[in-house]
Amino acid sequence: MCGIVAAAARRNIRDILMVGLYALEYRGYDSAGIALQQDGFLARQRAAGKVKELEALLEASPIDGHCGISHTRWATHGKPNTQNAHPQTAGDQLALVHNGIIENHAALRNELRESGCEFNSDTDTEVMVHLIAQLMGSGLDLFAAVRKAIGRLRGAFAIAVVSAVEPGVVVGARRGSPLVLGIGDGEHFLASDVYPLIAETTRFVYLEEGDVVALNADDYEIRNESDELVTRPVKEVEVTIDAVERGDYNHYMQKEIFEQPQAVAETLEGRLSASRVLPNIFGVGAEEVLGKICQVHIVACGTSYHAGLVARYQMEQLAGIPCRVEIASEYRYRRPVVTDDTLFVVISQSGETADTLAALKHARQAGYTATLAICNVAESSIVREAELVLMTRAGPEIGVASTKAFTTQLVALQLLVLELARLNGVDETRYAGYVADLNHLPELLNQALGLDAEFEALAAAFIEKEDALFLGRGSHYPIAMEGALKLKEISYIHAEAYAAGELKHGPLALVDEKMPVFAVAPDNTLLEKLISNIEEVSARGGELYVIADSKVVSSFGQRHGHIMGLDTGGPLLSPVVMTIPLQLLAYHVAVQRGTNVDQPRNLAKSVTVE
Ligand code: F6R
Repeated sequence: MCGIVAAAARRNIRDILMVGLYALEYRGYDSAGIALQQDGFLARQRAAGKVKELEALLEASPIDGHCGISHTRWATHGKPNTQNAHPQTAGDQLALVHNGIIENHAALRNELRESGCEFNSDTDTEVMVHLIAQLMGSGLDLFAAVRKAIGRLRGAFAIAVVSAVEPGVVVGARRGSPLVLGIGDGEHFLASDVYPLIAETTRFVYLEEGDVVALNADDYEIRNESDELVTRPVKEVEVTIDAVERGDYNHYMQKEIFEQPQAVAETLEGRLSASRVLPNIFGVGAEEVLGKICQVHIVACGTSYHAGLVARYQMEQLAGIPCRVEIASEYRYRRPVVTDDTLFVVISQSGETADTLAALKHARQAGYTATLAICNVAESSIVREAELVLMTRAGPEIGVASTKAFTTQLVALQLLVLELARLNGVDETRYAGYVADLNHLPELLNQALGLDAEFEALAAAFIEKEDALFLGRGSHYPIAMEGALKLKEISYIHAEAYAAGELKHGPLALVDEKMPVFAVAPDNTLLEKLISNIEEVSARGGELYVIADSKVVSSFGQRHGHIMGLDTGGPLLSPVVMTIPLQLLAYHVAVQRGTNVDQPRNLAKSVTVE
């Protein structure tokens, strides 16, 4: 998604903005731009493509300045070309960058055209800059004009604006898209998240919904949506530069795959004793709330949705609690029938996914007993909106394809399952066994990562493929879905997952000797059923690859194709451990196909538009 970096300082900020734009690349984008205040006018450079194209332009015609804004754009309205790149301007006097979507842009555009404005782009953003320019023309200063203008906007946005007539001032506003204020020593910054600024400061103000901020090098002022002057807390952020650097790895995704044992260990840290999930890890008073819960309703998008699907099986099987799981973009427009004592759970790595956030807001009006967010970004909109919170502690996830966020979500959900199981009176010995199992998970993940070289070698067989099928049953069906999603999003190979029992109801027609079929085979009661489904594939000559628990490897024969065994640690842990080989497969296939692994085409990391 789009990214904003802006600064007001006493030194040249061009490099600060450019470093910030590189740090925002992970969000996904297709053009970039910068505008810096000069003496009496604004200088702007924009480029379609990557930040390095913008950098090349700046090297050819450098612009410097102490105050300015910059942006990476992920196209929503209009093509990803230079003309539509941000900053959008009104003449050379006003420039604006924008994340989000303005829903009433067409009506505003007509109105502004009638009053003589000329438009130079296809973006919804350009209406804002003309609206603000018009209001400044009627005598308002930049801060007042922005406050007035946003009153006319429908939709979601975070913006940063500079004017040539107010040297040293940047104005920012947020509604529906995140924006943070960085506090430096005699300088201030704005950005979409903290990562682009951590080389400059560790002190941040997380702007609230509806806030508008005016900042200069020395000071800043925030007004809330009722136009009252407000003070927001300044938070010290602990993210280090190392956490957002690639180190010796070839890609962020590779680094993040290998960080999983540590990320999972941190997600468990301080949340488990030797025999139980510790009380109130979901927030103060959570134990009492969770004690009432008779049903769980989980809502999320993409990979996070897959984590929810795994939890459904475990919730019903281990805690005996009915559980529904739904895609946020569907849920948010439904009128849900909420039964008594239902817990609503959202799962989100970024905490900013527009559909998931809207689903959570929708749920808060719908009469659930409580809302719980499982999230990886503290201070995100979703964390703030939910009543109860369990943070995954995956650390910054930069690769667009989610890896460590997913496995830590699975673990966080398992803590919820176990807590609800305990409150629901599960057999104590069984419960203690699951808790003990969880403590071994990091070690099992480390062992699974030992398959890396095997998957690197295997990947060579897929570089020419255009399709693949993934099969699983029970709680491993969503793991097959996640395997298919990983492969398709980073290697662009069309991949679909099926519950193995569904194969003969249609997809079997696709199977021939050219079709690779991956099956996930844990050591559980569904093994025989899965083997029968796999037989259906081998009978049609399909190219089979079975990822099996080591204990069941001997159940497969040569006709079942390539069998890879690993220790998966029983029913609770197995879906987490089985995820690793599928991530390694997707990663190595993508690398060998030469795709952009960390920033796959058309995708964004934090999907802050609908
Ligand atoms: C896929 C992926 C996406 C996200 C989805 C939800 O690898 O990362 O499918 O899972 O966009 O994002 P969050 O979890 O940030 O709400």
